[in-house]
Amino acid sequence: MTRATITLDRDFTAGPVPRRIFGSFVEHMGRCVYTGIYEPGHPSADENGFRRDVLELVSEMGVTVVRYPGGNFVSGYRWEDGVGPVAERPRRLDGAWHTLETNAFGLHEFAGWAKQAGVEIMEAINLGTRGVDAARALVEYANHPGGTYYSDLRRSNGAEEPFDIKLWCLGNEMDGPWQIGHKTADEYGRLAQEAGKAMRLVDPSIELVACGSSNSGMPTFGEWESTVLGHTYDVVDYISLHAYYEETEGDAASFLASAVDMDHFIESVVATADAVRARGKHSKRINLSFDEWNVWYARRDGDDMPSTIEARGGWYEHPRVIEDHYNVTDAVVVGTLLNSLLRHGDRVAIANQAQLVNVIAPILTEEGGAAWRQSIFWPFARMSELARGEILRLAVSSDRHETNRFGDVDTVDAAGTYDDETGRVALFLVNRGLDEAADVTVAVRGLQPGQVVRAEVLTIPEGADRFLTSVGADADRVGLTPLREVTVEGETLSVRLPALSWAVVELDVTRD
Ligand code: AHR
Repeated sequence: MTRATITLDRDFTAGPVPRRIFGSFVEHMGRCVYTGIYEPGHPSADENGFRRDVLELVSEMGVTVVRYPGGNFVSGYRWEDGVGPVAERPRRLDGAWHTLETNAFGLHEFAGWAKQAGVEIMEAINLGTRGVDAARALVEYANHPGGTYYSDLRRSNGAEEPFDIKLWCLGNEMDGPWQIGHKTADEYGRLAQEAGKAMRLVDPSIELVACGSSNSGMPTFGEWESTVLGHTYDVVDYISLHAYYEETEGDAASFLASAVDMDHFIESVVATADAVRARGKHSKRINLSFDEWNVWYARRDGDDMPSTIEARGGWYEHPRVIEDHYNVTDAVVVGTLLNSLLRHGDRVAIANQAQLVNVIAPILTEEGGAAWRQSIFWPFARMSELARGEILRLAVSSDRHETNRFGDVDTVDAAGTYDDETGRVALFLVNRGLDEAADVTVAVRGLQPGQVVRAEVLTIPEGADRFLTSVGADADRVGLTPLREVTVEGETLSVRLPALSWAVVELDVTRD
């Protein structure tokens, strides 16, 4: 039996839960937009072509903010192609994903969808093939009330009121050689600084995200952040991070410890941003936007996008691209990644799981058919629902085990919140151990534990294995079940977590 003790103290908090960490991402890629969120003619589609079945799942998942329209796609995108009468919009070749883009869905459609979904828009601009002028024109189009060329164009295209988009990404993964318009850190840093400045001259209330590294394994990681922030520190608010994890060569232990890597990645970028702050004698702090993260079987999916046009057989509209099917293990890993983001919520202000529908996504759809939740839907949905109030700085002391990639790691991973208004504590607990259950003892300080309001677990169902997925006819085969082994005695909460499990415990508390 694995053992862990956790101490939770009402006074040991790390600030309010940044609700924007429950973000997602809609890219013009594969079937995320077309036949994902948007499918005119689908039985559940509304008058705008938005799939109501998907909207319901997005709302159940508790998504707060959605990044759009890419991703690699944005680095070759002309935003003007996606506005105005649909019949007049140009068809384009999207080089990033080798796809025929019809532009039937663009900014107005996305703004309408975001409104219905109740999510904030996070708009990315193209700093691959375009620059300062297109960026400031887009801000004027989206946010200026009227009486100017671009704002009146928006009004004549049917949106009298501005979209009032606050969050803007200055490009995407500009350090990556695969990116259209890839740049060096100096080239990108100067361009981002000037584009950001011009965008703010149109609307000073916007918040800007500079591109950090595409992943922490990039050869320029660290140096890139330092150089880019050296150019942009005064104009931007956030620096981005991207990370995708997968199980390789059957190394489940390392895969399950992916959040150790995420913790380290976040802490490294915080240190780099703070070093630039010190160097430049700045007073403001740059926070983090982890605007792409997830499990992605990139090695296995390699063949989804053959590298020659011949092998691809031409250009298609919304082809199936990286539609990963997630299993129990993946859901547990996603739970730990969410824990890492929440633990660092004093500096990670925004996070977007990539992506929302079909493309490495918690929600899958069939064209003309059903929409369903994948295994990774559940930890996200519950955490977004229950992580309220203040982030708790938990003191975790867990048995440890060895992994190939990360050395010794805690077998039990935890994060938690305390909401003074509702008088509730929420604990998000993970047993990374593949073989043994874990007994977790939580010592509660500064609060009197009352009733357990909710206790649920996601683990391997009876008779199945850790590779079980819930797809199509088997939707909801992997999900949450009641966690029964939870007791409260005095100031101690005791929880038994099954091997390989993600769990949530919600507890009523009163102040001492
Ligand atoms: O989310 C899929 C892709 O991954 C995005 O387009 C890109 O930014 C990243 O490399």
